[in-house]
Amino acid sequence: MIDQATIDRIMDAARIEDVIGDYITLKKRGANYTACCPFHNEKTPSFSVSPARGIFKCFGCGKAGTAVTFVMAHENLTYWEALKVVAKKYNIDVKERELSPEEQQHNNDRESMMITVAYAQDYFTKILHSHVDGKNIGMTYFAERGFTEATISKFQLGYCLDSRAAFSGTALRDGYKKEFLVKTGLSVERESGELVDRFFGRVIFPIHSISGRVIGFGGRTLKTDKSTPKYVNSPESEIYHKSNTLYGIYFAKKAMMQSDKCFLVEGYTDVISMHQAGIGNVVASSGTSLTTEQIRLIKRFTPNVTVLYDGDAAGIKASLRGIDMLLEEGLNVKTLLLPDGEDPDSFAKSHSVTEFTDFISQHEEDFISFKTKILLSDSKSDPIKRAEVITDIVRSIAVIPEAIPRSVYIRECGKLMEIGEDVLTDEVAKLRRKKLYDDARPAPAPRAPQPPTDGDAAPPEEALHTPAIPAFVENVFCREQERELIYLLLRFGNQFCFGVRVSAYIISEIAGEDLNLQNLVYRQIFEEYQKLLEASETVDVRHFINHPNQQICELAIDLLSEKYTLSKIWKQPDSPDIEEDRLRVEVPKAINVYKSKIVTQAIMRLQADLEGKSGEELDALLLKLGELSKVRTRLSEMLSRPVF
Ligand code: GTP
Ligand code: MN
Repeated sequence: MIDQATIDRIMDAARIEDVIGDYITLKKRGANYTACCPFHNEKTPSFSVSPARGIFKCFGCGKAGTAVTFVMAHENLTYWEALKVVAKKYNIDVKERELSPEEQQHNNDRESMMITVAYAQDYFTKILHSHVDGKNIGMTYFAERGFTEATISKFQLGYCLDSRAAFSGTALRDGYKKEFLVKTGLSVERESGELVDRFFGRVIFPIHSISGRVIGFGGRTLKTDKSTPKYVNSPESEIYHKSNTLYGIYFAKKAMMQSDKCFLVEGYTDVISMHQAGIGNVVASSGTSLTTEQIRLIKRFTPNVTVLYDGDAAGIKASLRGIDMLLEEGLNVKTLLLPDGEDPDSFAKSHSVTEFTDFISQHEEDFISFKTKILLSDSKSDPIKRAEVITDIVRSIAVIPEAIPRSVYIRECGKLMEIGEDVLTDEVAKLRRKKLYDDARPAPAPRAPQPPTDGDAAPPEEALHTPAIPAFVENVFCREQERELIYLLLRFGNQFCFGVRVSAYIISEIAGEDLNLQNLVYRQIFEEYQKLLEASETVDVRHFINHPNQQICELAIDLLSEKYTLSKIWKQPDSPDIEEDRLRVEVPKAINVYKSKIVTQAIMRLQADLEGKSGEELDALLLKLGELSKVRTRLSEMLSRPVF
């Protein structure tokens, strides 16, 4: 328990921007700081910190609080635990009285587990430094690997004696409960009830949370026989979640912010050796494949990631999937291939910091060149293989959320693979739309209306897709058509047609092709709707009705109020499935009419451009014209034929 005077001292000392700044990168804006909210996924910052008032608030998800409640929420701690974290940051002594046996019992599991793990770390470290076996075996091993004293203490490395229950026995004698020794995975319970050390005979790598508390361990065997697994790790527990932990994040976060870059490696020793070599912005995924949570953890500090591979081919191929995940989360991904037979650990040992950083800046490449090189290396000139490589790379580009980097990569891919940018753009657009549909498909939702069951259950794909607009086409201002789309979005967005939400359908058809609405009010509604949809399956239109932007608020009320009807057929809302039939007609129609307008304008512009042109220039224009006419024909075909 912490007394009130100490709490007051902590609160007085805590500068909210410093405390929060330890976790996420804050940008100063006026008197306040902003960032992308760590509590929900967003691309534009709506998280704001006010140093003057000592509070934070996210205008996207509504989360708000103080420095301490931020730490609580962020680290999933109790209030008391969070207070202690903040106190530690400001070197404030927290005097706690010894807990009585009753209080100890009331202590929740989590806290007991944390205490048990902290005890174990201390024990393993002491054994390494002072026990004869620790010194002769553990310390000798680390020394052979080239770790300095400073490195060993910084990472709190340790050793677990090679007798089956030395640790468990000592822990029990010191009053630590069997229950928590087992729950943290430090001890394994035999059928007889007897405890055995999980890590016996291994050197210990403590795994730290983002705020530097030990939450688990990796233990490396010193044996070389293949039958013993090289590493044993703490099992998943209430305090250690593998999928949202990155080894080294606590030691790397400052350097990640300062250098605005993160190196991603595979192993514990890679992280440690790079640190020792003077490269601090490095974390490891610890052998498992990368998770979305881990990527978001990186993204709090920097959007720039360089993935370091050791030269062997198998490892590289397996890691390509990880790259796609990084791209999908909007990170800027580069890759660095080390010389054959080297891993970051060995490379850091055999080179100076300058050599290493020089090597990085000379050999780092973006993922397109990297992937192309890797994939092409074993397909050479086989055209079918080549096509597969292109498809594969296009798939990677399509997952990138932002349009600008996407188009940069398309250009680069076109150059490398000697293929037209337009073709690639179309392919990327197709994949993006398909993905949006797939994501929007209702999961076996309780009340999702079923498609008509007259034989062919699923709607034909063509009924869904309106033709893609070629990349060279510029958008035009068409207020009426844009208004109709916004109307359908606000009014019917949460309903289904063709088995997907109307909102997802419209957004994928428009945003999937990077068409931006030209009316700024409509565009803002469209973009905010899209963002809201990313966060949850349905969107509450009250967001727009109560919008701080008066124009949006008025438009939303106007569109949603009874008297506004674009098409007469909406007049009386009938039973839901009849309405769905109407949506099946009206939604594709609205999209089609909108696209037709854009295409028709583009055709007119091209025709005007033809005047006085000849030779190659004329050919190029005619080619475009031909392509556009085809799109227009397909659009009007779709418009004239009833969908169902
Ligand atoms: P050294 O061989 O000592 O240099 O270790 P390393 O950290 O470089 O290991 P390696 O490159 O072989 O593997 C990378 C990471 O994968 C390790 O740091 C571990 O997190 C994980 N890993 C490797 N082997 C095993 C294993 O046998 N079991 C488990 N659970 N994880 C492993
Ligand atoms: Mn290694």
